[in-house]
Amino acid sequence: MRLATRPFCILMLLLALGGATATMCELAAAQPVAPLAPPGVAAAAFPAPDRPVASVISPIWASEDERRSANETEQVFKLLGIKPGMHVGDIGAGSGFYTMQLSRAVGPSGEVLAQDITPKYLEALQQRVRAADAANVKVGLGEEHDPRLPAHSLDAAVLIHMYHEIAQPYALLFNLAAALKPGALVGIVDLDRATPEHGTPPKLLRCELAAVGYREAGFHKLKGGVGYLAIFKPPLEAKQPSAIKACSRDGNTAAKNQRAS
Ligand SMILES: C[S@@+](CC[C@H](N)C(=O)[O-])C[C@H]1O[C@@H](n2cnc3c(N)ncnc32)[C@H](O)[C@@H]1O
Repeated sequence: MRLATRPFCILMLLLALGGATATMCELAAAQPVAPLAPPGVAAAAFPAPDRPVASVISPIWASEDERRSANETEQVFKLLGIKPGMHVGDIGAGSGFYTMQLSRAVGPSGEVLAQDITPKYLEALQQRVRAADAANVKVGLGEEHDPRLPAHSLDAAVLIHMYHEIAQPYALLFNLAAALKPGALVGIVDLDRATPEHGTPPKLLRCELAAVGYREAGFHKLKGGVGYLAIFKPPLEAKQPSAIKACSRDGNTAAKNQRAS
C-alpha cells in the first residue's frame, strides 16, 4: 500500500464498524494507471477488422494452477528465447500471470512493460506488482488501437490469449511495431477457434499480421491444451496505413478497404 493512502485507511479503521474497512482501503489504495508513451497513429487511419471481435470478459484466460501444470510460460519463453536482461512487452497483461513470470525470467537487468486497456485490471495488476516488489515491471494503460509503449524499447512482445479481443488489430499491430527494436520477436498465443469463441484461426492471424508487414518466424502447437504460439518478426519498413487492407474472416485478403471509425 502506498504511504499516501495510509492515513485514510487508519481513519477508516477508526470510524468503520465491521468488514467494510478492508474493501474501502483496498479501493483507496488503487491508483489510476497512465500510458507509458505518447499516442501513435490514430485508429481512423486503418481498416477495421472484417470479422467479429470477441468481448473483454476476464483479466485471465485460465487459472494459474492449470497453466502452471501445462508449463505454459516455460514452453513460450523457451520458444521465444526470453532471457535475463531482455525488455519484454506483455500486451493485454490482464491479471499478470505472464507479467510475474516474465519479471523473474528477465531478472533485475531486464524490464517488463505490462500493458492493458482495462483500467480496473491494471490497477489490480499494479498492486500485485508492488506486493511482489517486482521492481523491473512497469504497468501502462493502452488504447484499443495503440499499446502506448516507448519507441524502440522492446526485445520481444507477447500477446497471450487476447488477440481475438483487439478491436483495432491493424492499428494496434502498426503502433506496436514502432515499440519494437530491430530483431525483436512478437509471440502470439491463442486457441485455434473462431474469434467470437475467444480464439483466432491461424490462417486469419497470418493474414492480419502480413497485412501490416509482419513476417512469420515460427508456429508451434503448445502442449497441455493451451493453444498455439505464432512468432513474427516486425515489418522491415512501416507500411503506409492507407495501404493496409483488411482480411476477410476466413483469412483471405479482402478486396474492400474500409477505414476504422
Ligand atoms: C482473456 S484476458 C488474457 C489476459 C492474460 N494475457 C492472460 O493470458 O491471462 C484478455 C486481456 O486482453 C485485454 N485487451 C483486450 N483488448 C486489448 C487491446 N486492444 N490492447 C491491450 N489489451 C487488450 C483485456 O482487457 C484483458 O485483460
